[in-house]
Amino acid sequence: MPGRDREFAATPQTVKRHWAILRNGHRSAAQPKARREGVRRSPFVVRQVGILGCGSHLPERLLTNVELERMVETSDDWIVARTGMKERHLAAAGEATSDLATAAGRRALANAGLAPEDVDLVVVATTTPDHYCSPSTAAIVQHKLGLTRAGAFDVNAACTSFVTALSAAHAMVAAGTVRNALVIGAEKLSTVVDYTDRETCVLFGDGAGAFVLGTDAAQGELLDHLLGADGSGAELIQVPAGGSASPARADTVTASRHFIQLRGRQVFRFAVAKMAEVVEELLVRHGASLDDLDLLIPHQANLRIIEAAAERLRLPMERVFVNVERTGNTSAASVPLALDEAMQTGRLKKGALVCLVAFGGGLTWGGSLLRW
Ligand SMILES: CC(C)(COP(=O)(O)OP(=O)(O)OC[C@H]1O[C@@H](n2cnc3c(N)ncnc32)[C@H](O)[C@@H]1OP(=O)(O)O)[C@@H](O)C(=O)NCCC(=O)NCCS
Repeated sequence: MPGRDREFAATPQTVKRHWAILRNGHRSAAQPKARREGVRRSPFVVRQVGILGCGSHLPERLLTNVELERMVETSDDWIVARTGMKERHLAAAGEATSDLATAAGRRALANAGLAPEDVDLVVVATTTPDHYCSPSTAAIVQHKLGLTRAGAFDVNAACTSFVTALSAAHAMVAAGTVRNALVIGAEKLSTVVDYTDRETCVLFGDGAGAFVLGTDAAQGELLDHLLGADGSGAELIQVPAGGSASPARADTVTASRHFIQLRGRQVFRFAVAKMAEVVEELLVRHGASLDDLDLLIPHQANLRIIEAAAERLRLPMERVFVNVERTGNTSAASVPLALDEAMQTGRLKKGALVCLVAFGGGLTWGGSLLRW
């Protein structure tokens, strides 16, 4: 197709023009007028992206180890020794994931000083959406928060969902296709936990955490993200029924196939190795070393996983943020909940190099590097 070849031939002039577009955005005769009238610039200009604000929400009800002792054959000593967990929060019966997400999102917007109409995009990272097919939880949150100008979609990469959503929203803000994005990790895991199964019911909790992203790096500049997956490990953490592979039927309910099942020991080994690998790779990509890392904020799945990964990295625990004793594993909510708490408690100092890292079902893993 000679016509096409001509169209895409990279002459010195076209190369120069494309670089100018990357730096300044598209310019046309109509654009100065459009800009005067408040029409947004054309997309696809790489911009710096920062966290303008964060917020989180934990439901009121506490489920303590002592209470779990009365529900299944377990003990406070076993749970603390094997997981580091003391208590976790559970949403009320009438509370959905979108309610938790909305509460965290509202706090993040207030912290950022933004009005609902300033938000162009809301992404909800979750494995426990309000509805399994439609609508997305993000669409429900869009309505509950009155984000009248925002597009909305959900992201599911199990416990890696938030880092995945952050990476996608970062790219969209950097490209200029949206100005401000609200990224929320929210879970009501208590709906997929079998409270008669001692191997899983002690591990999980409900909650939500949120970041507002924009082009002002006021609180923290996002530097990079790394994502990975290995679907050959799909069966290590799964809810077997309820999806297209095994639709909900009376027999799937009777067989308890709508609850989380996991092979804890195998996940443990994978998690320790991957967390260390992701942190090292992100640092190397930025010419930094572990000495430069001020704070690691890991997915809070188990204190022993976090400690083993820190040991592998030779990173002292003083530079690792942990709140698993009070939250349990909140999956997609875990990393933003932890970062918000780190901010509230003064653990994030201006200029600090911070690494977020997560792993989970899929199998999936990922990390983000940011300068606070
Ligand atoms: C689940 C986990 C806490 C178990 O800890 P562990 O040290 O690996 O324990 P083990 O699997 O070796 O089990 C030890 C024993 O405790 C028992 N046990 C399991 N849950 C128990 C509980 N709540 N209370 C008391 N005993 C329990 C097991 O039945 C097993 O008994 P056995 O030796 O007689 O067979 C740990 O492996 C883990 O955190 N894995 C990752 C969890 C995960 O996948 N999270 C979601 C993804 S992010």
